[in-house]
Amino acid sequence: MSDSAELSLPDQDIKLPVIVGTENEHGLDITKLRSETGYITLDSGYGNTGSCKSEVCFINGEKGILRYRGYPIEQLAEKSSFVETAYLLIWGELPNEQQLADWSSLLTEHSNLHEGLRFAFNSIPPQGHPMATLSSMINAVSSYHPELLNVSSDEDFRQAAAKLISKVRTIAAFSYRQTVGYPVRYPKPTHDYCSNFLHMMFSKPYSGFEADPDLVSALNKILILHAEHEQNCSTSTVRMVGSSGANLFASCAAGVCALWGPLHGGANVAVLEMLGRLHAGDMNVKDFMERVKNKEERLMGFGHRVYKNFDPRATILKEAADIILPKLGVNDPLLKIAKELEEIALADDYFVSRKLYPNVDFYSGILLRAMGIPVDMFTVIFAIGRMPGWIAHWYEVFRDPSARINRPRQIYTGSTERDYTPIEARS
Ligand code: CMC
Repeated sequence: MSDSAELSLPDQDIKLPVIVGTENEHGLDITKLRSETGYITLDSGYGNTGSCKSEVCFINGEKGILRYRGYPIEQLAEKSSFVETAYLLIWGELPNEQQLADWSSLLTEHSNLHEGLRFAFNSIPPQGHPMATLSSMINAVSSYHPELLNVSSDEDFRQAAAKLISKVRTIAAFSYRQTVGYPVRYPKPTHDYCSNFLHMMFSKPYSGFEADPDLVSALNKILILHAEHEQNCSTSTVRMVGSSGANLFASCAAGVCALWGPLHGGANVAVLEMLGRLHAGDMNVKDFMERVKNKEERLMGFGHRVYKNFDPRATILKEAADIILPKLGVNDPLLKIAKELEEIALADDYFVSRKLYPNVDFYSGILLRAMGIPVDMFTVIFAIGRMPGWIAHWYEVFRDPSARINRPRQIYTGSTERDYTPIEARS
């Protein structure tokens, strides 16, 4: 295959280098297109734009493949822990025993928040959305560690990354306690990452909370499945913000905001709302699907920019829901409705022809609900899971000597030049 492609423009031809990735993905390098021809490319929604080269994650949407640093998601979800997966994503290799022990202790060491920051939760009204709190508090953490605003060594980065991964879970739990009016529970150094989060969420003021091992294992799986997904909206946001030289905390806080939207991480909430409406009898499943096909509604938790066959994360979560719900003694009518919707969609030409399949958000909400996680916290859990991926991408930008500030162009479609009109002369 040729290592360049030829582009014929009305007034000239130009050769564009072809870049080939390790999984034989091909891209056209257009970095010199504008300087040599005056043209730019237009790709609304960036569906055909490669914004960077990256070693963190590989997705083949046609075949339903997802690998973190080369490791299949199915193997990680079955065999790894979230803490180990975080290490893998950030440093590129699975840790040996000592490295994992050191990394886990570092996370434990950083799990608490400065008391000043704890008091900041008091100023947030109970009805404040936990995603808003999460984003503000991640930025606020940096105020307590100004030495980490300018990362100048691998060790600085290690400290900043560990603080974020560890504290995001504490912030999330504290923000939940604030909304329900319970006093905060401090993290316990004896607990592993997931048990500690559940302890901080659910311990009552005068009683402890020993998390059911099935609950811990379900949370572990959910966090691993959400940990990374290459250039999605929030990760691209983190890379975009990081490309300006902004620090890790600010970049990840921006990632939280991008994740919040219902077309991205907020979809897990939207799925539950949709299933809740159907369960409440607002409309039957068939009528709802007709409305979806008439574009009066969206089937939330369906469709993906990249996956055009199946989303491997959804497959794993559906299996997990089938196993974990009965174990937890939960018989959720919403699971039945979700399966009914899926069955109809998979046999309907509207969805089949558009290659719309369940995505990660379709079953994650049902699992989280079975685990007793309140709906408002679903996207927060997604953010806790995605943190290692964001950090890995920020670091890739930070370490890339050829990285430039991300600054797309546009095709201007507004007014051409006109003269200023004094206010008295305007209609
Ligand atoms: N329900 C009904 N129709 C849909 C859906 C859906 N969920 N998703 C896409 N379509 C239709 C869309 O109307 C369009 O139809 P037409 O060709 O007739 O105009 C066609 O399918 C292509 O859709 P698109 O909006 O151009 O696709 P996209 O790649 O821009 O959007 C998406 C991808 C995930 C935003 C979209 O599928 C969607 O809105 N899904 C529902 C929200 C959701 O579940 N989001 C979570 C995504 S996975 C986790 C994450 O990234 O956070």
